[in-house]
Order: sequence, then C-alpha cells, then structure tokens
Amino acid sequence: MILIFCSAPTLAPIVSQNERRSASGAVSSKHFHMAVDVILGLQWGDEGKGKIVDVLAKNYDIVARFQGGPNAGHTLKFDGKKFVLHTIPSGIFRKQLINLIGNGVVIDPITFKREIEKLVDAKIDYAQRLLIARKAHLILPTHRYLDAAKEAAKGDRKIGSTLKGIGPTYMDKTGRNGLRVGDTLRPNFIEKYQALKEKHIGLLAQYPKIDFDLDGEEKKWFESLEVLKSLPFVDSEYYINKAIKKGKKILAEGAQGSMLDIDFGTYPFVTSSNTITAGVCTGLGIAPGKIGEVIGITKAYCTRVGGGPFPTELNDEVGAFLRQAGQEFGATTGRPRRCGWIDIPQLKYTIMLNGVTQLAITKIDVLDQLETISICTSYNVDGEEKTDLPYDLCNFDIQPQYKSHEGWKSDLTASRSFLDLPENTQSFVERLEKLLDTPVSMISTGPERTQLIHKPMETVAS
Ligand code: GDP
Ligand code: IMO
Ligand code: MG
Repeated sequence: MILIFCSAPTLAPIVSQNERRSASGAVSSKHFHMAVDVILGLQWGDEGKGKIVDVLAKNYDIVARFQGGPNAGHTLKFDGKKFVLHTIPSGIFRKQLINLIGNGVVIDPITFKREIEKLVDAKIDYAQRLLIARKAHLILPTHRYLDAAKEAAKGDRKIGSTLKGIGPTYMDKTGRNGLRVGDTLRPNFIEKYQALKEKHIGLLAQYPKIDFDLDGEEKKWFESLEVLKSLPFVDSEYYINKAIKKGKKILAEGAQGSMLDIDFGTYPFVTSSNTITAGVCTGLGIAPGKIGEVIGITKAYCTRVGGGPFPTELNDEVGAFLRQAGQEFGATTGRPRRCGWIDIPQLKYTIMLNGVTQLAITKIDVLDQLETISICTSYNVDGEEKTDLPYDLCNFDIQPQYKSHEGWKSDLTASRSFLDLPENTQSFVERLEKLLDTPVSMISTGPERTQLIHKPMETVAS
C-alpha cells in the first residue's frame, strides 16, 4: 500500500488528510468536513503530549481533553518557564484559544483549583477561554480514599495507581451512581453528594483502615468547587458540533497512553478510560467521520510508571542512564519511571488501534550519547517468534528480539531541521518510519517549545 501525504510542514496536521480524501475523490469535501485532529500517546503515557499540543495549538481554535483526569501530568516549557497541567488542556497558554474539558474527563475540584492558581500567578487570562462540560464527572474525596484503600489491600498486585481517585470515579460513572459537573447547580446537589459519600463509606468498611483526613479534604473540596463553578459550564457536545459546523479547527488532547487503555492496554495494569482515538468520540460527543489527522506520539525509547508488564524494560545501567538523561520522574507523582528500548510490535499495535496518520518522535536527544541503540522488532513468545502482542503480556514468557542501530554521538538539542541532523539520526528516524509503516512528521529534541523539528512527510512504502 502507498500512502501519499502533503508536505506543508507546520500545517500538515490540519490539512493533509482533508486533501488526501478529496484528492482520492472517494468522498466529497462538502459532505466530509474533518475538523478534529487528535494527539495521543502510543506507549504507557508521558510521551510528551503536553509539549506537542502546546506547539501545535496555535494552528487550532479549540483544544479539548476527552478522557482521564488529574492522573495526567502534561509538562510545557517555554520562555524559561515550566508548567505541569493535570486537567486543563495544554492549549491554555495560547491567547484567544478556547480550551474545553470534555464530558469524558473526570475532575477533582481540589487539583483543578491548584492548577487555576498557577494560571493566576502566571497572569494567564483564562476565565472566558476555559469551558467545562456539564456531563463531566466529579472526583469526590471519598473516591480518592477508596482508591488508596483498594491499592493498599492489593499488596504486591498493586497497579501503582496515581491515587487520584480515577478508578472509583469511572466505576461510579459506569455504575450509574456518579455526580456530574452540571449537578452542582441543581437544588438536590448536597443530597446527592451525601448519598454517594455514604455509599463509599459503606464500601470502605471492607478494606483495612488507612489514614485519610476526610473532614479536611471535604472542606477543601467544597471550597474548591466554587472555583470550578466560576467557569462557564457548557453542553460540550452541542458546543463542539456547532463549532465544527462553523469551520473551527479542533485539537483533541489525549491523556495517558494507548497501552493504558481500559480495553486494549495491559489489563489489569491500565487506567479506567479509553485512551485511544475511539475515546475522542465518546469523550467529546463527535462522530467518527469528523476525525482528521491522528498524531501518535512515541518516545525514541520507552517508559512506564507504575506496575505491569513492560517487555523491553532495562533493569541495568542503560535503563538507569535513560532515566537520568531523560529525567524520567513522574510529572504527577514524582515516581521514577521504568525505562527500556523502543518496541515496534507494541507501537504497531497502538498505531493500528488508533488509526495513526503521522508520528511525532520525542526525546530523541536522550539517546545522544549512546554508542548503539536497540530497537525491538519482534518477540519470542513461549519459544515462537511473534510480531503481534499476545492476549495478556503478564502471563507469557516474552523475550524481545532486538536489531541495533549505530548511535550519532552528538548533541541534537540545537538542531532545527531534519536535513541538519546527523546521518545516523536521519537513518534512525527513517528506519522507524519503515518498521512502523507510518510517516514521522515531528521530531522533538528537547523539552522547550522551540525544540521541535517538522519533517516533511513523504511516501512510506510497505
Ligand atoms: P505527557 O504526559 O505525555 O505530556 O509527558 P510528561 O510531561 O509527563 O513527560 C514528558 C517529559 O519530557 C517532560 O518533563 C517534558 O518536559 C520532557 N520532554 C518533552 N519532550 C522532550 C524532548 O524532546 N527531549 C527531552 N529531553 N525532554 C522532553
Ligand atoms: P499522562 O497523561 C503515565 C498509570 C499509573 C498506573 C496506572 C493506573 O501524564 O501520560 P490511575 O491513576 O489511572 O488509576 O493509574 O496508569 N498512569 C500514568 N502513567 N502517565 C500518565 O498520564 C498516567 N496516568 C495514569 O502510573 O500505573
Ligand atoms: Mg505525563
């Protein structure tokens, strides 16, 4: 199969698929307005989504989060400043741009208030640009209490949750017990809150006791809720579909990574939402046909934070080197991230699940000093060579099979164009494109907004 992409570097995410569709003549552009591009992580999270969204946001009218909650930690660096966002979309620092927290997100008013305080400190004018979906669910203090009690009870089968209350909140959502943002303005809100809290206290009795200052957290929660309530609440499904009709461009920002997806990730070591492209439709209320470019982000190596299988993990000095050079410590919890080599079977799986149309490779600079870089191209599963991921990565003996690539041994952090990169870096990127059968459109060479190379997308022949 031959894929043909247009080569306008900075605008590529906005226009290329629209052009591709109309050029093929398959669908009339009149009936096929693909207004929503997607950015999401292809590994186990922390791929650098915040940075890429922040860079590309200037090409869009709206940036929208569609799933997850304050388990996310998205880091942005520009003009010598650093911000970590948990619930607020990464377009907030671009003037004029609307940022929407969609119905698929779960919101903890306490974390949210802290994030708003950081925006106030930085003199960011957010008040009319940050919209909250009425149908988004609320994380209660007792959801966090339950998260902590459940994890403590699991002993060495711990998922390594961020303890932000994500699992219990989504459980109440699917169990049809949850509290939603819109409920906060209803006369029976306190009654509903109390009923859910009582239910949680009943459940907590099943777990060993842990320390949790419920009264203190509850007081903070209600105070913080006033900050949330000071922002515009919207019926986001109408808001976003009307915006699409008006020709607005929307960027959907994923949280976590595809390998943490509740259906397709390394279950049960996953989060509780659909982190893949499909989650954009349910988490914002848009139809699949409105999705345009799907930009999949992968590090030039791989990391994971928390428990669960990780076939290419390096428990040696190379793993320690990657952690140090990449400053691989969780943006939300500060935990050291587990590090390993890039994994092609894993990436092919998530490219397939997401319908990725272009790739962004981040943190390539972290490999600058290595003599040799390894690329896992297949697995030996219980003695058999495989390129498909087995049903359950936990219960098979998986031996990653590697090919090596000669390192470039030079500093990439100041590089700004693909052709300026050392030959071995260019061939590394091109090798990944071939192995993954997907074009690379961006290469990130450092955490700053300016450290990004736009690579013209060319034909990738499989
Ligand atoms: P996210 O959750 O996907 O937004 O990623 P995180 O913010 O949790 O983690 C990515 C980390 O890598 C952050 O500290 C970023 O500042 C940093 N980062 C992003 N891109 C690059 C890059 O190309 N090179 C280096 N060295 N650091 C980067
Ligand atoms: P961003 O958006 C990396 C991991 C946790 C744990 C598992 C379940 O910054 O990429 P949860 O709190 O959801 O119950 O935890 O998922 N996890 C993440 N790992 N990046 C994230 O978000 C993550 N969000 C959750 O470490 O293993
Ligand atoms: Mg993160």
